[in-house]
Amino acid sequence: QFPLPIPPVKTPAMTITNPVTGNPIDYYEVNINAFQSQVYPGKGPANLVGYDGISPGPTFLIERGRETVVRFVNNATMDNSVHLHGSYSRTPWDGWAEDVTATGQFKDYYYPNSQPGRFLWYHDHAIDHTAENAYFGQAGGYILHDPAEDALGLPSGYGQFDIPLILSAKQYKSNGDLFSPAAETTSLYGDVIHVNGQPWPFLNVQPRKYRFRFLDAAVSRSFRLYFQRSTGASTKLPFQVIASDAGLLTSPVTTDNLWISMAERYEVVFDFAPFAGQNITLRNYEDVGADTDYQHTDKVMRFVVSGTAVTDPSTVPATLATVDFPPANAPAVSHTFNFERTNGEWRINDVGFNDVANRVLANVPRGTVETWDLINNSGGWSHPIHIHLIDFRVISRTGGDGRTVQPYESNGLKDVVWLGPNESVRVEAHYAPWDGVYMFHCHNLIHEDHEMMAAFNVTQLID
Ligand code: C2O
Ligand code: CU
Repeated sequence: QFPLPIPPVKTPAMTITNPVTGNPIDYYEVNINAFQSQVYPGKGPANLVGYDGISPGPTFLIERGRETVVRFVNNATMDNSVHLHGSYSRTPWDGWAEDVTATGQFKDYYYPNSQPGRFLWYHDHAIDHTAENAYFGQAGGYILHDPAEDALGLPSGYGQFDIPLILSAKQYKSNGDLFSPAAETTSLYGDVIHVNGQPWPFLNVQPRKYRFRFLDAAVSRSFRLYFQRSTGASTKLPFQVIASDAGLLTSPVTTDNLWISMAERYEVVFDFAPFAGQNITLRNYEDVGADTDYQHTDKVMRFVVSGTAVTDPSTVPATLATVDFPPANAPAVSHTFNFERTNGEWRINDVGFNDVANRVLANVPRGTVETWDLINNSGGWSHPIHIHLIDFRVISRTGGDGRTVQPYESNGLKDVVWLGPNESVRVEAHYAPWDGVYMFHCHNLIHEDHEMMAAFNVTQLID
């Protein structure tokens, strides 16, 4: 067993000036490079391609309101496109799937960073190749810090008491290299669970509270996580969920298990104080979301709690944030989207992303609030649905096996919602602040690459 890697912090190359506002902009440069990683001792290395030649890529730590420009230089052999997932980027910098950067070229992306604090992630979004590119390493964390949040006294300090846990699931060949998802047309569930790029790692912790930022960066695997003592009573231990995709919840939600599907983020506080000198295991349920289980997919990682008592100055306040929910009286449903499988193709309302003439499925006047119904008509598949640009409120979940909206899904805003087998989910959002054509899609990256993606057009207000 190996220690949990903590992705290094990305530092700006220089600070430039916004020519329009005069505000400072931090300028960063990221090189997309091939690299090797020795995952299996005694076998060959795995061949990967990652941001700055590591995976996950370096973590950006950004103060709310500080603008950034990031130059992504493509030194790899595949085209790529970079999406900052969770940012309301203007369309030229949103990672539109066809806006690819070829080998040897670069693109500069501008990010406003003016949203409430949250855990974003940047990942590849290239047309037809997102699954391969993300799986082989093009994914990284991007933390937007908010002064209002920093004042709460939550466990803090990146890599110290505030730790990203980026989950993925992969499959290896007998020579130690990765099995590629490129030829897959349904899913690649992966039998090896990684956290921050390391299979089944451990982390030494102190007996105190930690903030963990979970991201499911897997191609196709959803999780239902729980913490358990490694020996003795097998009870699931309680923890607090404090944030989701779009940042802090209104108030913490105490639970003993957490559903998380692809691209979702949940931040939790776990208190190791009662477990000094013990080991705590982070585990995954079996039979989650109709995914295929393997022998060890019920294990995620382990925490080794030191026996030495420490003082813990951190707290989890009973009220965390005022969330900017869209108005409570949800308007009538404006759009219904069926996520289906027709003749072996993944479709949304019978349209695939390659159907260029028909793929804009909705026109939404900028500034309006709309309610959308997302319906899983595809049988036994999970489809985590991501809508670019906006943060939405999850209103309801019906059908399936009766799973309802979890309190941690509705106590804050989200940008991905897990549409489980045979479920219908209703979401409400304020379509702002920009106009333009944005993507929405299934975040099972193989479904996304196989056409389960469409667009909506936020139309300009004419006054
Ligand atoms: Cu995380 Cu359109 O993607
Ligand atoms: Cu899907």
